[in-house]
Amino acid sequence: MTLPAPPAAPRPFLKWAGGKQALAAQLVETFPREFERYFEPFLGGGSVLLALRPPRAVAADRNAWLIDAWEQIRDAPDAVLDELVPLPNTREDFLRLRGQDPWALPPARRAALFVYLNKTAFRGLFRVNRAGRFNTPWGAYARRYADPANLRALSLALRPVLFRRGDFEAGLAGITERDFAYLDPPYWPQGGHADFARYTSEPFRAEDHERLAAFARALDARGVRFALTNSDTDAVRALYRGFEQTRIAARREINLSASRRGIEELLIRNY
Ligand SMILES: C[S@@+](CC[C@H](N)C(=O)[O-])C[C@H]1O[C@@H](n2cnc3c(N)ncnc32)[C@H](O)[C@@H]1O
Repeated sequence: MTLPAPPAAPRPFLKWAGGKQALAAQLVETFPREFERYFEPFLGGGSVLLALRPPRAVAADRNAWLIDAWEQIRDAPDAVLDELVPLPNTREDFLRLRGQDPWALPPARRAALFVYLNKTAFRGLFRVNRAGRFNTPWGAYARRYADPANLRALSLALRPVLFRRGDFEAGLAGITERDFAYLDPPYWPQGGHADFARYTSEPFRAEDHERLAAFARALDARGVRFALTNSDTDAVRALYRGFEQTRIAARREINLSASRRGIEELLIRNY
């Protein structure tokens, strides 16, 4: 007798700058075996959350539209699909849809627009102008943007996740020494890329990296375990001096030309 295949593990629904898809399984292997809650305050495309599938999790990001999309996929996957599937992928339609104010739309429509723009915009980059309007150009990709089975599997998998919007300090609020945090901030620029990564209308600057390192030291002083990834640069090594630092191979999908994609990254741990 052939048993029906078990439902496939849900895959990320976004292509995200700095996404850890290629590293997720390797990273999860390095995490502690036991903890009460999993915190991920720089969620992005959530590849590590989905590789880990913890029974309790707090997931956050400063990009409120992104977190909105995660919540809608958890709570109303079919409504999101109904809105997403008919959206046409031509340059004219892309420009018309890109120009909409997401916050004037009903939640399922807003989430569908987020997924659509991520799949149709150039390299999936989330770039907004000062007014917070999406302004990445059209990507001219012939790709499917909706995978109904995957979105429904995601919805089930996300039930134990509490989402928060905002800065990482809010994302980590309430963490205790029984919990564990994985921190994946925007990269410290490396190899001539002078511009600090931009995922929201505000970039993550050197002083934010310093604030994060100070926050990580405060977590450590309270006995809270964390793992953090960033580019392997002298600046990052100096910020996290004293913690275990391991070089890992990463492939970056966005922002770099093909010849530069295989850049080394650093895993920092306090356990
Ligand atoms: C390197 S990406 C995370 C990628 C993710 N691990 C993945 O696999 O897709 C960094 C994320 O940090 C978010 N971010 C930027 N500044 C932030 C801040 N101050 N607090 C919290 N999140 C922030 C960005 O919106 C972006 O999604």
